[in-house]
Amino acid sequence: MDRQSDEIVTYYTDRYREDLRLAARPQARLERTRTVELLREHLPAPPARILDVGGGPGEYARDLVTLGYRVRLLDLVPAHVAQARAGHPTVDADVADARALPEPDDSYDATLLLGPLYHLPERADRCRALAEAVRVTRPGGRVLAAAISRFAGPLDFAATGRLDEPMVREAAALLTDGRNDARLGFTHAYFHRVEELLDECRTAGLVELAVDGVEGPAWTAAEAAAHGPMAQTVFDAALRLARVYRTEPALVAASAHLLARGTAPDPSDIDRDRPDLPA
Ligand SMILES: C[S@@+](CC[C@H](N)C(=O)[O-])C[C@H]1O[C@@H](n2cnc3c(N)ncnc32)[C@H](O)[C@@H]1O
Repeated sequence: MDRQSDEIVTYYTDRYREDLRLAARPQARLERTRTVELLREHLPAPPARILDVGGGPGEYARDLVTLGYRVRLLDLVPAHVAQARAGHPTVDADVADARALPEPDDSYDATLLLGPLYHLPERADRCRALAEAVRVTRPGGRVLAAAISRFAGPLDFAATGRLDEPMVREAAALLTDGRNDARLGFTHAYFHRVEELLDECRTAGLVELAVDGVEGPAWTAAEAAAHGPMAQTVFDAALRLARVYRTEPALVAASAHLLARGTAPDPSDIDRDRPDLPA
């Protein structure tokens, strides 16, 4: 295993309880509610075959199994795979790297990548993970890939009263390099601009691309209000605005997470569009 993968396995095995994350803070509860809504909107109907790459302990995979989908989960972290298998309903799960999926070509109706992209600091690795998702998805099937917005970390620190000098410097540095300073928290990671995410999806071969903002632009207000008397009111308002502004270009990057969706190309469509081929 390379050093980067080793860091991720150690982080999620020894330092962070991913299985508790989505029930915790307002941002995470918004992420969970909106992600489920977006999955229901954009995935083909059950009993479609879904591959959940970087599926973690299986939170979304279990939802999808309950909805009648046939789901297989792959994740780099053995402890997550064990949790996914042990949960109810149980999930068919194995350890694998998003950059080299142990699955045949065209074998799924849709593939999720809700995690690996931000854990891959190099563009070539992210494009490889996206290309693998395209490879295992049948032509015409969907690929949904999550990224963390370039601005999420500093906005979060500001909303929760933790924006100290090192984080202000990090906010400025992120504008140009997008790379997380792991000394300030999390792992080595990459935080996307919307146009970069679209470009990487395009490079991997996806067509019919779009990006939704997941938590909407008012998630920081929900974080700031979390421990006060208006907590639920502000959370509900943030959720409603997340739905309204989900594809508004001026606001998509204000969400903590971006969710790209695209269609795996039909090889015959690609051939038809090639100008070097005779009509
Ligand atoms: C923040 S968690 C997200 C889990 C879940 N998909 C969700 O959205 O709640 C990121 C997940 O991506 C996994 N991951 C990171 N890099 C990966 C890679 N190269 N291949 C497969 N999984 C990876 C991690 O092990 C972790 O389970």
